[in-house]
Amino acid sequence: MKKVFVSRPIFPDVIDRLRRYFEVDAHDGLALPADEIAARLADKDGAFIAGDPVGAKAIEGAPNLKVVSNMAVGYNNFDMQAFNAHGVLGTNTPDVLNETTADFGWALMMATARRITESEHFLRLGKWKEWSYDAFTGSDIYGSTLGVIGMGRIGQALARRARGFSMRVIYHNRSRVAPEIEAELNAEYASKEDLLKRADHVVLVVPYSAESHHTIGEAELALMKPSATLTNIARGGIVDDAALIDALRRKQIAAAGLDVFEGEPNFNRNFLTLSNVVLTPHIASASEATRRAMANLAADNLIAGLGEGPRAGNPPNPINPDVLKK
Ligand code: DGY
Repeated sequence: MKKVFVSRPIFPDVIDRLRRYFEVDAHDGLALPADEIAARLADKDGAFIAGDPVGAKAIEGAPNLKVVSNMAVGYNNFDMQAFNAHGVLGTNTPDVLNETTADFGWALMMATARRITESEHFLRLGKWKEWSYDAFTGSDIYGSTLGVIGMGRIGQALARRARGFSMRVIYHNRSRVAPEIEAELNAEYASKEDLLKRADHVVLVVPYSAESHHTIGEAELALMKPSATLTNIARGGIVDDAALIDALRRKQIAAAGLDVFEGEPNFNRNFLTLSNVVLTPHIASASEATRRAMANLAADNLIAGLGEGPRAGNPPNPINPDVLKK
């Protein structure tokens, strides 16, 4: 029987599915450090990974390893160069989380613009003594301009929702999306600089890579309107968090909503000193149904990638499909 490693606690019935095909070594505690993951992978044929780093050292030390399945759409935790060099297939879980993540992007953007968590804290602390005309005044969503940076599937799902709020949609992406998608979304392509100058609410949905590192830093924040909000549901590292803290402190932009952070879960604690930021712990895809769909898709990829089950040899979401041809 082939051996697989599961890097974190997941739905027990998904582990049971894996046990039908494999001998499963399921880690049942807090996230493991990279060297322990590497040690657990050493004798495995496959792995079910929930966002943990799988680097060159782990790949080199696991001669039988054939498939590493990520329970996430983003796979910047994988060293794809090492995967390719050693013929290891990587898989991810796209699409099943698009709508849930877009919903969350809106929730975070709206909470940020309308100061929902800040005002709730005020109320919980017993500070609410009277109604006041200027208490927690924020900025409108309705009729404003949404700037989406990263117009992939989640960005499109996010932009589609803007119609209900009569928003103008401008977007920036590495390349323009097809004209029919632009027409459907009523979305106008803009340079990053132009978008940052014009948008009332900027939402980041770009995958993390060396090129997208610090897409938003000091220079970009300086272009934004003082009334603008910035929402990051993409990845830590897309924003220069130190520069953002400085901009929020100086009220260079109005507010930020952040679900992801540089170095998470060890994020920059200076965020906690600011009232104009809404902070959530990387939960954009966290609806019960979507997390279940992601876990099952990650299991499908692992089972099929290791030549088992109804799609044996044909996993639904290969990241580096060339490996399958070899
Ligand atoms: C993803 O799928 O990439 C989400 O951010 C969860 O990690």
